[in-house]
Amino acid sequence: MQLIPITAVDEDLSVRMECDAEMMRYIGGPRPEADVRATHKRRLELTEKGLAHMFKMVADDSGEVLGTVGYWKIDWKGPQAYEMGWLVLPEHQGKGTATLGARLILARAGADPDVSAMYAFPAVNNAASNAIARKIGMQLQGEFNNEGFAGVLRCNDWRIDLD
Ligand SMILES: CC(C)(COP(=O)(O)OP(=O)(O)OC[C@H]1O[C@@H](n2cnc3c(N)ncnc32)[C@H](O)[C@@H]1OP(=O)(O)O)[C@@H](O)C(=O)NCCC(=O)NCCS
Repeated sequence: MQLIPITAVDEDLSVRMECDAEMMRYIGGPRPEADVRATHKRRLELTEKGLAHMFKMVADDSGEVLGTVGYWKIDWKGPQAYEMGWLVLPEHQGKGTATLGARLILARAGADPDVSAMYAFPAVNNAASNAIARKIGMQLQGEFNNEGFAGVLRCNDWRIDLD
């Protein structure tokens, strides 16, 4: 798998994933298309400022897009904290795609001097996502009410130190 930086041409990929009820089942449900398009542009602005690092996961052999993975700066429990996230298209789920993508992101973030700690906040009932956090070596800190675009979601707080 290769990680290829997300650009403006990937806006429709964001819409395909983030307007889909099944994909968004544990992340607050499908979002309005206009919101997703605006969010895509905002992510690109954060990327230009070095505050977000967003990638497509692309299969080495077929060149097919498998999903997206990335990390972005957050204001959480001290300086130099980042959150990572992963989304895999339905036809590529259940094959280790997200786990591999997450490992590749951790390797990148480990080489990034601005990253001290990496967090992931899957909903407590998102079994696949919690399994990924555990498998890549994150430590469970506990649960919290995560307030975001989706309202309040009960999430796990997973952390790994990258100093
Ligand atoms: C969560 C998601 C990224 C997992 O992607 P994936 O490529 O299928 O994950 P993997 O194949 O690497 O599997 C990860 C682990 O989850 C388990 N898993 C996969 N699908 C599962 C499911 N539906 N229920 C329970 N466990 C599941 C796998 O068995 C694996 O654990 P194991 O190795 O201990 O068996 C994918 O389902 C997805 O994109 N969901 C919608 C978006 C989302 O919820 N993103 C996460 C937000 S925090």
